[in-house]
Amino acid sequence: MTAELCARAPIGMLAELTHRCPLQCGYCSNPIELERVNNELTTEEWVSVMRQAGEMGILQVHLSGGEPTARKDLEDIISAASEAGLYSNLITAAVTLKRDRLEDLVKRGLDHVQISFQDVDAENAERIGAYPGATQKKLDVARWVVDMGLPLTVNAPIHRQNIHNVGRYIDLAVELGAQRLEIAHVQYYGWAFLNRAALIPTYEQTVQSIDLVENARERLKGVLTIDMVVPDYYAKRPKPCMGGWGKGFMNITPAGKVLPCHAAESIPSLAFDNVRDRKLLDIWMNSDAFNAFRGTEWMKEPCRSCAFKEIDFGGCRCQAMAMTADPRNTDPACALSPYHGEMVALAKAEAAKPATEFVYRNPRNVTAAMKTAQEPL
Ligand code: SF4
Ligand code: FES
Repeated sequence: MTAELCARAPIGMLAELTHRCPLQCGYCSNPIELERVNNELTTEEWVSVMRQAGEMGILQVHLSGGEPTARKDLEDIISAASEAGLYSNLITAAVTLKRDRLEDLVKRGLDHVQISFQDVDAENAERIGAYPGATQKKLDVARWVVDMGLPLTVNAPIHRQNIHNVGRYIDLAVELGAQRLEIAHVQYYGWAFLNRAALIPTYEQTVQSIDLVENARERLKGVLTIDMVVPDYYAKRPKPCMGGWGKGFMNITPAGKVLPCHAAESIPSLAFDNVRDRKLLDIWMNSDAFNAFRGTEWMKEPCRSCAFKEIDFGGCRCQAMAMTADPRNTDPACALSPYHGEMVALAKAEAAKPATEFVYRNPRNVTAAMKTAQEPL
C-alpha cells in the first residue's frame, strides 16, 4: 500500500538536534523522558541526515530541540543543510546566542530564524521559562536577525498565563520588524499535557484571542503575517494534524528515531526506525510507523464513513491516544467523537479552577512528572 500513498517526498523535516535547553517551560511538547546527551546523533550522522533529506527532495528543515544552539556543531549541520539545498529555519529560545555566532550561521546559509517569547511582560516570561534575564537577550537576537536581513518569526506560545497579552504580542512583532507572528495556543502533548491545568484558558478567553487576531490580520495586511494555532479542546472539528500522518512531514529525534510527528512516541504500539540503521527514504516509504496511519484504511467509525476523512484525516493520533487510550479512535476534538463532550467538559472545568503550579520541564522533574501524568478520559 505504501508506494502510492507516499509517492511524494515530505515537504518539511523537523530536526530535534538535542533535548538540552536552558529554559524549563511547562508548556513544552517534548516527551517527558528527555533524551540523554550521550545518545544524541553525532555531527557526521546529522550531516548524513541533511544530505539524504536533500536527495529525497525535502524542501525545508526546521532545526529545533530543546535548544538547537546547545549543539556546538550547529555550524556544520547548517552548512550541510545549505549544501543539500534545504531551506533552514532555526527555532531558538535565543538566550545563549551571541551576535558573532549568528553572523557565522548566516554565512553558512541559515535562511530563517524563529524566536519564542514566553510573554511580553519580562517578569512573567522569565517565570514561565524559569530563566532570569531572558527577555532582553531575546529582543537583542531578534534585532540582530532583522539587521542581518533574515526573515524573523516571533513565536508566541499562548495559554492562560499570558493570553491577556495577545494584543501586545502583535505590537511587539510589528515593532521588531518580524515577517511572521505565530500565535500558537499550546497543544497538549508531553510536558504540556502534564501541565494542562496550569495552561488551559477559558472558552471565553480563547474566543476573544481569536477575534483579536482576526481583526489584526485585516489591519496589518502586507505588514505582518499572523498564523494561529487554536486550542482544539474547544473546537468542533479537529486539526488535520501534520497535514495527515506520513503525508508531508517527518521528525528526527535527538537520538535519530524517525517519527511521523513530534509526539508519536506517546503511542506505545508503534516502533520507530533509526537513521543509524536505515536510510531516511526507506524509512519514509516503508517503515511500519509511517504506514500505521497513512491514508484512511486504518480508520474506525465515525471517521471511516465521514465526508471529512480526506480533509482532516481524523485529527490527531497522539491526542486520540492521550485522551482515549486508542490512537485509531477519532480525535476527541471532533464533535462526532463519543469522547468529545467529556473533553470539552474537562477543559472547561480545568480552566475554571485556579491554575496549578507548573511542573517545570527539567530532567530532575522526570520522575515526579511520570507519577502525576494525566489519565485518559
Ligand atoms: Fe474528521 Fe473523523 Fe470527525 Fe469526520 S468523524 S470530521 S473524519 S475527525
Ligand atoms: Fe502526533 Fe498529532 S501530534 S498525530
